[in-house]
Parts: sequence; structure tokens; C-alpha cells
Amino acid sequence: MNVLVTGGAGYIGSHTCVELLQAGNRVVVVDNLANSSPVAIGRIREISGVDIEFHDVDLRDADALDAVFARHAIDAVVHFAGLKAVGESVAEPLRYYDNNVIGTLNLLGAMTKHGVRRLVFSSSATVYGAPDVVPIAEEAPLGPINPYGRTKLMIEDISRDVAASTPGWRIVLLRYFNPVGAHESGRLGEDPHGIPNNLMPFVMQVAVGRLPEIGVFGDDYATPDGTCLRDYVHVVDLARGHVDALSHIDTIEGCRAVNLGTGKGSSVLEVIRAASKAVGRDLPYKVVGRRAGDAPSVYADPTLAWQLFHWRADRTLTDMARDHWNWQRTNPNGYA
Ligand code: NAD
Ligand code: WQD
Repeated sequence: MNVLVTGGAGYIGSHTCVELLQAGNRVVVVDNLANSSPVAIGRIREISGVDIEFHDVDLRDADALDAVFARHAIDAVVHFAGLKAVGESVAEPLRYYDNNVIGTLNLLGAMTKHGVRRLVFSSSATVYGAPDVVPIAEEAPLGPINPYGRTKLMIEDISRDVAASTPGWRIVLLRYFNPVGAHESGRLGEDPHGIPNNLMPFVMQVAVGRLPEIGVFGDDYATPDGTCLRDYVHVVDLARGHVDALSHIDTIEGCRAVNLGTGKGSSVLEVIRAASKAVGRDLPYKVVGRRAGDAPSVYADPTLAWQLFHWRADRTLTDMARDHWNWQRTNPNGYA
């Protein structure tokens, strides 16, 4: 297939481009580099040994997007482009609604105009909010608790409406749990700007000495060791999930939401232990207060992804810590 990847220079998008190319697809990337580097595009070419087309285009620029669709005969779109920082979305909600929702409306408009009906969208487990029951299946109640999460649910709702309006749409809403890790080559990985919000990047910056100590957000939750449980999933497994979803997408009628997670919850202390093992020394941490909005336990029921796409996550927390550390160690300043 000719696959248009929006946000393909970003963390999950760049890994997905590699997997798509290795599966024999052709890839066109659209990214405005708002949270990524053109170096990632070069690394995708380097790992895959295949050229890709890159367009520095903002999805909110409808004319520029239209020109990309006019130039390439696109068969399917994988849509990663969006802003993703929860705290920032609370401080700047209009920017988040504008970028994520308007960008997606333009994309769906261009797809409609050019007759492209296959879409895989990066949704998030954040649409479940604080779940009452774990593991979380797709039919669990939805209730995001911050503007970022609400942009994801709005885009899910818009996608369901579009698919219901006209026969022929095949839309997969992939709800990722907690993506971590990096490409095993050490050439692609996550390059967060400033101080990372997410646990694994924070832990790895402590490991390279950029930050002094990990703060564990609470150890008095009703979980086995008192720290929160999350479903960490290797970014390469996640990337493969998009390839598997695309290769089965013609069996999907309309719009389906599908979890991508391992089905296993790991605690904050287990992550720190796995990272310490990968790094080869005990990483310093201190228990600090709970972070507002954290649910005690969030992990997926990934059964549907297996039933629909024959996808399941293969890589363990040990693999995730090893590959994330390899990336951080060999690229201490990211793509800079
Ligand atoms: P990322 O920031 O590394 O990648 C997103 C990419 O989209 C960036 O390269 C950015 O420059 C680009 N982009 C943003 N707005 C754009 C616009 N208007 N036009 C063109 N390009 C634009 O993030 P990621 O971690 O790779 O996440 C990819 C997607 O997956 C996002 O939609 C995110 O919300 C979703 N997601 C991420 C996580 C996570 O923890 N990383 C979890 C669940 C869902
Ligand atoms: C994981 C665990 C923290 C940092 C977020 C978004 C979600 C999705 C994935 C996009 C929690 C604890 C963290 C630290 C800590 N993104 N922690 N010290 O909150 O599960 O999910 O990223 O869709 O929408 O909300 O991930 O990595 O921030 O936290 O103790 O310095 O680590 O309390 O239990 P989270 P996270």
C-alpha cells in the first residue's frame, strides 16, 4: 500500500514508518516538526534502506494537505499527528483543540475529497479516564479527565460519525496504553523536549545524569507494592500493531476501537528496577506525593487486537528498559 503517515517524524510514527517499509509498503510522511526533528526521517531511511517522501506540512493547512493527496495515490492513512502533553493541554486547551481536532477535520476532509477510506488513528487509553474495572476492554465507559484526552474522544466520535455517514469507510481507533522503549538499533527513540512528564523517559534521564533523582508519585495506592500499575508496551510492538491493523483493515466495516497493550500491569517500582538492571546500577528514587489525576491501576484487555489483527505484544519490560537505555545512552541529547 501507499501509506500516508501523519506525525511520522515523531516517536511512535517514526518506528511505525520503519515497520511499514519493512513490510513492503511505500510511505509518505506529513509532519510540521512541532515536536520532532528531521533527523528522525534520515534515520528511518538509514534503518530501512528505503527512501520515503517527507512533507513539512501542518495538518491545519488545508491547501498544503490537499496538494499532498493530489501528488500521491494514497491507499491508507495512519494518523499520529497531534499534541500529547496532558499538563500543557490543561494550561492551553484552545491550542490542543485547534491542533488535534481541526487538524483531524482537515485530514478527514482531504481523505473524503480524494476517495481515501482507510484510516488508522492514534487514540489513547486516556479516553477511559479512571477505570472502575481492570483489565480494560473496549466497551468500558469512556470519560477522559483532561483536554488532551477529550481531543482524543472527540476525534473518536467524529470518526464514528464519518464512518456511519457513508459506506466504505474502514477506520481503526487504536487505544495505546503506555508506549516505551526504542528501536533495537538505538537509532530511533523518544526525544522529549524539556523535563519529561512520563516515567520511563524521566528514569532514563536520571540514568544519564541529566536529572538527579526519580520522584515516585505515591506508594500508598491499593496495589501490590503501593505504587501505580500501568501497561507499558514496547514502541516496536506498537508499531507492528499498525502494520497488522492495516493488513486486516478491509475486514473492518465502519469504525472499530481496539486496545494496544500487553494486558499486564507493572508498578512504578518494577519499572525502576528493570531500568536499574538495564543500566547496571541502582537508580536513585524518592517517594513523593501523589500526582493529581493518577488512577491506581490501568491495563488493557488486549483480546480484541488478537481476534481482529492477530496482534499481540511480544516484548517484556526487560526488553523495553534495555532498548530505551540503549537509545538514551547512545543519543544522550536525543536527535540534537
Ligand atoms: P510525538 O509528539 O513524538 O509525535 C507526534 C508528531 O505529530 C510530532 O512529530 C509532531 O511534530 C507532529 N504534529 C503535531 N501536530 C501536527 C500538525 N498540526 N500537523 C502536522 N504534524 C503535527 O508523539 P508520539 O508519542 O509519537 O504520539 C503519536 C500519537 O499517539 C499522538 O497522537 C499521541 O497523542 C498518541 N498517543 C501517544 C501516547 C504516548 O504516551 N506517547 C499514548 C497514547 C496515544
Ligand atoms: C506512569 C506512572 C505515574 C512520572 C500518560 C498520559 C496518557 C498517555 C500515556 C498519551 C504513573 C508514575 C510518572 C514520574 C512517577 N499518553 N510516575 N514519577 O500517566 O499513565 O499516562 O502517558 O495518550 O494519556 O496520561 O504515564 O508515564 O506519566 O506515568 O511516579 O516522574 O508513573 O504516577 O503511575 P500515565 P506516565
